[in-house]
Amino acid sequence: MTPTLDTFDLSDRRALVTGGSRGIGYAAATALARRGAAVALTGRKEDALNAAVKDLRGFGADARGYVCHQGNPEAIVQLFEQLDRDHFLLDTLVLNAATNPVAGPLLELDLDAWRKIVEVNLTGALLTAQAAARRMLTRQKGSIIFIASIAAIDPLAGLGAYSVSKAGVLGLMRAFAKELGAKGIRVNAVAPGLIETRFSAALFQDRAAYEKIVGQTALGRHGQPDDVAGAVVYLASEASAYVSGQVLIVDGGGRMG
Ligand SMILES: NC(=O)c1ccc[n+]([C@@H]2O[C@H](COP(=O)([O-])OP(=O)(O)OC[C@H]3O[C@@H](n4cnc5c(N)ncnc54)[C@H](OP(=O)(O)O)[C@@H]3O)[C@@H](O)[C@H]2O)c1
Repeated sequence: MTPTLDTFDLSDRRALVTGGSRGIGYAAATALARRGAAVALTGRKEDALNAAVKDLRGFGADARGYVCHQGNPEAIVQLFEQLDRDHFLLDTLVLNAATNPVAGPLLELDLDAWRKIVEVNLTGALLTAQAAARRMLTRQKGSIIFIASIAAIDPLAGLGAYSVSKAGVLGLMRAFAKELGAKGIRVNAVAPGLIETRFSAALFQDRAAYEKIVGQTALGRHGQPDDVAGAVVYLASEASAYVSGQVLIVDGGGRMG
């Protein structure tokens, strides 16, 4: 009998997860590590990173943390220089870190808030993807996974700038997918719906907004970070070998068609 290959196996993979110290990033890093990948996490706060790395190592994962603010281009350069020094030759990138410092109508949006959102969510994502892809190109192999949002497809009222940045993330994903596909690098996005994390805490407190979002889901509930992690594993693995330029919506069936 021919042995069946486990196409979800990630042994010998090296994954960088930005914003990996908690929430969706941490759940994704955990799921990747449980499938055998070595993981490197980034975040702004060293204590949180250390705690996450300790938890991952607790079940035997090869994990390490790097302080890096995704809104700081120089910090991104330093991150990749350090990864090179550590011989962490990544083949998987999960671009998960993002910010949203404001809520309110676009008409009242402060220019500094706009700049911050664009710097972290879009410019930082571009620079990180560039640096990672250059390294993946040397081996003509890799998977880049952008964590977008359903707000990229249908803007959330009151979160206009954030929604626009996530629509930009989908544009980045598709442009990279076209440019890198023939060179062995697949590029996709995951678009989560409402997931219970620190990032979304305000939406959980706004009961009317919460009920509206959850009421539109086929599954009748909000998501947990682990609900998103499986989609990341799929897109990182050979199970998705013929998938690129796609958006995988993980929102409990809130959007269909
Ligand atoms: N939660 C949701 O409902 C939801 C829905 C759709 C999409 N998303 C997307 O999912 C991703 C993760 O969100 P989450 O809900 O898991 O958030 P979270 O629980 O607040 O975690 C955010 C992570 O990113 C790090 N981070 C924040 N700003 C950063 C920066 N400037 N540079 C580097 N790291 C940074 C945080 O660590 P430090 O604070 O130490 O930096 C933390 O590790 C984001 O892209 C978000 O837009 C979330």
